[in-house]
Amino acid sequence: MEIKKNISLKAYNTFGIDVSASNFVEVSSVENLKEVLLVNNKPILILGGGSNVLFTKNYEGLAIKNNFKGIEIVNENQDQISLKVGAGEVWHEFVMDCIENGYAGIENLSLIPGNVGASPMQNIGAYGTEVKDLINEVEAFDLRDNSIRIFSNIECDFGYRSSVFKTSEKGNFFITAVTFKLNKKAGINTSYGAIEAELVRMNVSSPTIKDVSNAVISIRSSKLPDPKLLGNSGSFFKNPIVAEEEKNKILINYPNAPHYSQPNGSFKMAAGWLIEKCGWKGKRIDNYGVHDKQALVLVNYGGAKGSDIYNLSTQIITSVNDTFGIILEREVNIL
Ligand code: FAD
Ligand code: EPU
Repeated sequence: MEIKKNISLKAYNTFGIDVSASNFVEVSSVENLKEVLLVNNKPILILGGGSNVLFTKNYEGLAIKNNFKGIEIVNENQDQISLKVGAGEVWHEFVMDCIENGYAGIENLSLIPGNVGASPMQNIGAYGTEVKDLINEVEAFDLRDNSIRIFSNIECDFGYRSSVFKTSEKGNFFITAVTFKLNKKAGINTSYGAIEAELVRMNVSSPTIKDVSNAVISIRSSKLPDPKLLGNSGSFFKNPIVAEEEKNKILINYPNAPHYSQPNGSFKMAAGWLIEKCGWKGKRIDNYGVHDKQALVLVNYGGAKGSDIYNLSTQIITSVNDTFGIILEREVNIL
C-alpha cells in the first residue's frame, strides 16, 4: 500500500477529466485504511468507480480508492438470501452474479456504473427499482473516531437520489460493505413502461430475471453513452419534484410534459424533457456538451475541463428556471 504523489485522476472518473490528486492510495481493508489515516493529515476524497463526480480542479488532498472486495452469504432460507458485499466490488458484476445464481430483485439495476460502496450514497435507482428496496444494512467506518458503525435501512434515511451519507452524515463515513436481501423465488418488476415494450420487441412473453436484465441493458445502451467511449456521469441533474399547481401550470402550455405522481401529492417532472424543451439537447460547445439522445447527460468529447462542464450546467439551470420557473439540482458530486 503506497501513497503516490501527483497522480492523474483521468482514469478514475468516467467524465475523463484530467486533474491530479496531490496524494493517492488504494485500500482494501479497514486495517489498510487505519494505517493510511494514521500518517495522513490532509482532507480525503473517497473514490469508487468515479461515475458520479465532476472534477473542476486538481484535488489537493488524499484520494482514497476503495478496493474492499468479497461477497459473503450472511443468511439464507428457501425464499431469500442475504449477501454482505465489499464496497469495492463492481456494481454491474455483482448484479450479473446475482442473476446467474437466480437471486431476484436487483435485475432492473443492471449496467449502472460504479461500485457497491457508492450505491447507498445516492440510493441508486433505475427502471422502477431503487437500491433502498434491497439493502438490509450498511457497514461504515467512522472517520472521526475510527469505529465501525452499522446503519439499518431506516437509519440510512433513503430518499430519491439521497441518503444520510449525502446529507446529515456527509463526509463522516467510509462505507466498507453493504448487505443486500434478495429473493430466490423470482418476482419480477416490469412496471416501467419501457421494459414491457422492450420485452415485446425481444419477443419474450414469460420473462425471467435475465430477460428483464437484458431488456434494461438494451434500453440503457440505446440512450446513455458508454463512458469508455464518451465521458459522462449519467444524469447530471435530479428530476425536480414540484407541487401540483406548478405541474398544472406547465401542462397548460405543454399537455404532454412527462410527470409522475409522488406518494405525498407532489409530482416528479422529467428534467431531460425540460432541458430538451429549452433547446439544449445535442448542443455542443468545443469539446463538451449535452448528449444528443438524453438531455440529462452532459458529455466530454475529449479534453474538456470540468469547470467548463460545470459552467454549462449553470447555464442550463438558468435557462430552465427562466422558461419553467423550476430550479434544477445537480445530481453529480462537484469537486
Ligand atoms: P463515485 O463516483 O466514485 O463516488 C460518488 C460519491 O460517493 C462521491 O462523493 C464519493 O466520495 C462517494 N463515495 C464513493 N464510495 C464511497 C464509500 N465507499 N464510502 C463513502 N463515500 C463514498 N445512477 C443511478 O442512480 N441510476 C442510474 O441509472 C445511473 N446511470 C448512470 C449511467 C452512466 C452512463 C453513468 C456514468 C452514471 C450513472 N449513474 C446512475 C450514476 C453512478 O453510476 C452512481 O451514482 C454510482 O453509484 C456511483 O458509483 P461510483 O462507485 O462510481 O461512485
Ligand atoms: N425525455 C425527453 N428528452 C430527453 C430525455 C428524456 O423528453 O432528452 C423524457 C423521456 O421521453 C421520458 C422522460 O423524459 O418521457 C424520462 O426519461 P427516461 O426514462 O430516460 O428517464 P430519466 O428521468 O431521464 C431517470 C434517472 C436515470 C435512470 C432512468 C431510468 C434521474 C435523475 N435519472 O432518467 O438515472 O436510469 O430514469 O429509470 O432520476 C442517473 O441517475 O445517472 C441515471 C441515468
